[in-house]
Amino acid sequence: MENVLSGIRPTGNLHLGNYFGAVTSFVRMQNDYNCYFFIADWHSLTTHPKPEDIQASTATILAEYLACGLDPAKSTIYNQSDVPEVLELYLYLNMNTYLGELERVTTFKEKARKQPDNVNAGLLTYPTLMASDILIHRALKVPVGKDQEQNMEMARKCARRFNNIYGVEFFPEPQSFHFAKDAVKIPGLDGSGKMGKSEGNCIYLKDDAKTIQKKVMKAVTDTGPTEPNSVKPDVIQNLFTFLEIVSTPETLQYFEEKWNDCSIRYGDLKKQLAQDIITYTEPIREKIDMYSSDKELLRRVAEEGAAKARESARKTLSEVRKIIGFKVY
Ligand code: TYM
Repeated sequence: MENVLSGIRPTGNLHLGNYFGAVTSFVRMQNDYNCYFFIADWHSLTTHPKPEDIQASTATILAEYLACGLDPAKSTIYNQSDVPEVLELYLYLNMNTYLGELERVTTFKEKARKQPDNVNAGLLTYPTLMASDILIHRALKVPVGKDQEQNMEMARKCARRFNNIYGVEFFPEPQSFHFAKDAVKIPGLDGSGKMGKSEGNCIYLKDDAKTIQKKVMKAVTDTGPTEPNSVKPDVIQNLFTFLEIVSTPETLQYFEEKWNDCSIRYGDLKKQLAQDIITYTEPIREKIDMYSSDKELLRRVAEEGAAKARESARKTLSEVRKIIGFKVY
C-alpha cells in the first residue's frame, strides 16, 4: 500500500482552510492507503511560542483531528517532535539545499517581510524540514492545500537531488494530492485571498453558531451586480466558493440565478451561508468537546502513533545512513 502523509502546525485551532484543504482528503484516504498524519510542532517554533502554548495547542489539534474522523486504528497519528529521526534526515537534506533556492521561496520572503526582527535559520530551512517529514516515510501522496505547492516542489527537489548525488533510486518524488481537479484554496471572507491563521480571518471548526454568524455577516461584499450574467469580483466569488463547499446544489443554483438576474441580496446569501456552515460543523464541534476532555485517550493515541511512526522512520534512516556511508545502529 502506498504511503500518504500530511501535517498541520499547532498554532491554534483547525480552521475551514485546514479542514477542506487537507483534513477531508486525508480522512477519505484512510481505508486505501497507509496514512501518516502528524502535528508539526517543530515547525511552529519559527515564531517562538511559549512552552505551555505548544502543549495546549498540540492537545487541541489532536482532539480536533480525531473529531474530524482521523482514526488511530487506521492511521498513524503523531507529534513531529516524538520522531527524532526526522531531524537527522533534515540535517542531511540541508547539506544538499542551497541558500539561493531557500531564499526564493515565497513564504520565506513573505515571513521575512512581516517579521523582519525574526528572520531565523529555521524559517529559511522550513521547506527542508517539511521535506524530511515527507521523505522519512517515503510518502508518495501528500494531501495539502494550494498554498503548499512551492514547499512540495522543494520536497521533490530534495528527493531528486539525494538520489542523484548518491546514484540511487531511494526516495520517490512526493505529489500533492486532492480529490478535486485542482488544489483547494479556501478564501478569507475579509476580502483577502486566503483563509489563514496569520491573516486573522479564520472560521474555526470550534466556533459556535453565534460566532460563525457574526463572522459570515461581516464578510466583505460590493454594491452588487449591475449587468446580468456578469463575472463575479473576487470578494463575491469567495462567498460562492463557500456555498459550493457547504451548501446544497439547489442553494448554490438559487443564488447563482439571483446573481445572474441582478436581484441578489447579499444579506440573504450570508444568512444562508452561515446556517450551512453551522450545520456542517456542528457535529464536528460536539466531537471536539468530547475528545478534548479525554486526556488519557489523547495521551494514548500520541504514544501509539509515535511508536508506529518511529518504526517507519528508523527503517528509512538506516537505509539513508548506509547510502551516505555512515554506520547503521
Ligand atoms: P498549515 O498548518 O499552515 O496548514 C495545514 C494544512 O491546511 C492547508 N490550508 C489550506 N488549504 C486550503 N485553503 C486554505 N486557506 C488553507 N489554509 C491552510 C495547508 O495547505 C496544509 O495542507 N507546512 C505545513 C505543515 C507541514 C506539512 C508537512 C504538511 C509541515 N510538514 C509535511 C504536509 C506535509 C503548514 O504550515 O501547514
